[in-house]
Amino acid sequence: MSEKSYDVIVIGAGPGGYVCAIRAAQLGLKTAVVEKRAALGGTCLNVGCIPSKALLSASEKYEAAGHHFAEMGIKVSGVKLDLATMMGHKSKVVADNTKGIEFLFKKNKIDWLKGEGTIAATGKVQVGAETYSAKHIVIATGSEVSPLPGITIDEKKIVSSTGALELEKVPDHLVVIGAGVIGLELGTVWRRLGAKVTVIEYLDRVMPGMDLEVAKAAQRIFEKQGITFRLSTKVTSAKAEKNGVALTIEPAAGGKAETLAGDCVLVAVGRRPHTDKLGLDKVGVAMDKRGRIETNAHFETNIKGIYAIGDVIAGPMLAHKAEDEGVILAEMLAGQSGHIDYNLIPGVVYTWPEIANVGQTEEQLKEAGTAYKVGKFPFMANGRARAMAATDGFVKILADAKTDKVLGVHIVGPEAGTLIAECVLAMEFGASSEDIARTCHAHPTLNEVVKEAALAVDGRPLHI
Ligand code: NAI
Repeated sequence: MSEKSYDVIVIGAGPGGYVCAIRAAQLGLKTAVVEKRAALGGTCLNVGCIPSKALLSASEKYEAAGHHFAEMGIKVSGVKLDLATMMGHKSKVVADNTKGIEFLFKKNKIDWLKGEGTIAATGKVQVGAETYSAKHIVIATGSEVSPLPGITIDEKKIVSSTGALELEKVPDHLVVIGAGVIGLELGTVWRRLGAKVTVIEYLDRVMPGMDLEVAKAAQRIFEKQGITFRLSTKVTSAKAEKNGVALTIEPAAGGKAETLAGDCVLVAVGRRPHTDKLGLDKVGVAMDKRGRIETNAHFETNIKGIYAIGDVIAGPMLAHKAEDEGVILAEMLAGQSGHIDYNLIPGVVYTWPEIANVGQTEEQLKEAGTAYKVGKFPFMANGRARAMAATDGFVKILADAKTDKVLGVHIVGPEAGTLIAECVLAMEFGASSEDIARTCHAHPTLNEVVKEAALAVDGRPLHI
């Protein structure tokens, strides 16, 4: 029997892979996706972005009902947590989303090849006992949790982000290793649900890579909410015991060790590309020093007909970055062209307040020797934020000192993840801060803080 053949076989059905497949199919390419997980959608839909946002939304409402409704004259009593139902909400959201992708596959006539895919040779993908041929093979296998040497993740007491989305009871004390995106989002969920949360961070700051002023302001807000941070501290061991976990921590620069007890530990020290068992050595696909697949601007590896997108290649490990790469690659495979400006990929942390950024940080501009102007405006001076009782934070716009072109926007504040969209769009069009300042912003909205920050670049904010 001859092998079934496709124009494109994508390995991995996460946001990079499934979006690439949909776009390829839309453009008339015969497309299949190999996925071993029982549901489509990858880490993002199954154990990442979507379930964490379901728990962030639910826990935010729980905290508001218990602690903040009264400030607005809403008296509620007997607010209780039903964790099993909250987890049920999360599971339903995940199931609805992953089934939605299955529907989109059927609609676009994309075959789901169920199982683990291996590249057997150029143009050949093996899934179980079957071999398929493809003109183009796209590796979109994503990333996996980076382990911490000497610490064994059991997903019960010592958990990764996956286990932290499945805890059966609220821990009394959750110790989070790593003050990055996952540590802060999931630390926030469990703090709101009643856990004492301690975050241990190796560096002397939270959220490395983010604008330092915003990161410091966010840390102060999280501390006010009850999270304890131990910065410049390393965990040298964590052992699961009968009643919890015993940790040994010490100053990052060396010094006296101390012990710390928690009943659950979340390891959130980053993710690494997921490339094993793909047969990459056999076909000779080149990797970089950090274990990522090397690609050119067209997502081609060194082997003709093999491409890679998303977390397995360089760049931020973000679903929307992978999606954009998937779309552009599919268009290129169909004979079109495309380009991504990696400087304009926004980042969002979905805590409350949210943290969002696009473009260059102040530290990056200083290091590059770029002359810049800063405009800042606090949510405290915005009517809508006051009406919402959500006044923490500010918008910070960095613009070129000579041309006024916007170089970066950094927000900590209510709905920051939504507010950043207008800034990304402005930067896509090469806007100046004056362009944002002269754009009519509806009143009363949180977006007026963006406009005021743009006015502040030129020293002329109106409401402060
Ligand atoms: P991360 O890279 O954001 O943060 C890891 C943190 O752990 C860093 O602050 C790092 O300095 C610290 N760290 C590393 N080794 C340590 C050690 N031995 N002891 C103490 N601290 C240590 O990684 P995270 O939070 O695990 O997230 C992984 C990936 O998932 C990221 O690339 C992130 O972009 C992505 N993600 C994105 C989300 C979003 O966009 N909202 C949500 C969740 C994850």
